[in-house]
Order: sequence, then structure tokens, then C-alpha cells
Amino acid sequence: MKQTVLFQPVVAVAIIILSASVLVLGDVEARQQGDPQATVMTACTACHSTRRICDNLGEKDREEWTRTVTEMVSRGADVAGQDIAAVAEYLANLEPGSEPVCR
Ligand code: HEC
Repeated sequence: MKQTVLFQPVVAVAIIILSASVLVLGDVEARQQGDPQATVMTACTACHSTRRICDNLGEKDREEWTRTVTEMVSRGADVAGQDIAAVAEYLANLEPGSEPVCR
């Protein structure tokens, strides 16, 4: 009986720690798999704010965004070559004023 009383809080703490690490790992995975929004909000804010990107939402199409992102990568943006298309697609599909690019 006494063991059960002790056991429950230990299990509860273990469950909390486990779910927290699943959340953290899930986030890292999203970034590694090239979640385009996460990539934009990290890689594209190294040199300038997202203001420059926000100003171009609805202006550039997918092709123009591909050119812009490729140019930013050549300047040093940390976007993997295989993620450029997904980032361009993501930006081309954002409505002007979209969060979190525009705040
Ligand atoms: C290594 C620094 C650096 C990083 C990282 C960077 N940029 Fe830039 N970006 C610049 C500089 C410098 C300019 C201004 C030069 C210009 O206007 O051509 C600029 C200008 C821009 C412009 C406005 C000019 C245009 O071509 O439309 C956009 C849009 C832009 N960046 C988007 C992005 C995106 C999207 C990313 C992430 C993939 C990114 N930037 C990451 C340096 C960077």
C-alpha cells in the first residue's frame, strides 16, 4: 500500500518529463525536415528583420521567391539546398500581412 502511494507521483513526473521531451524533439525534427516557416523565422532573420520579407508577400511569385531565396543563400542564409523550393513555395503562398512573417 505504501509503495503505491510513493509510486504515483514518480509516474506522474516521468510522464511530464516524457511529454516535454517529445514536444522539444518534435520541434527539432520539424526544423530538420525543413519546416519552411521555422526555416524562414530562423535562417531569414540572421541579417535583416522579416520586414523585408513581409513587404514582398503577394508581390513575388514562386519563381521570384526561388531566385530571392537562392540569392540569400549565396549571401550566407542557412537554408539547405533541398529546402529552397519548399521555402519559396511557402512564401509565395502567404497572403500579404501574414503572421508570423509580418507582425
Ligand atoms: C547573410 C545575410 C542574409 C540572410 C541570412 C538573408 N538575407 Fe535577405 N537580404 C540580405 C541583404 C544584404 C539584403 C539587401 C540587399 C538587396 O536589397 O538586394 C537582403 C534583402 C532581402 C529582400 C529584399 C530584396 C529582394 O530581393 O526582394 C528580401 C525579400 C529578402 N532579403 C529575403 C530573405 C529571405 C527569404 C531570407 C531567408 C531565406 C533572407 N533574406 C536571408 C541579406 C540576407
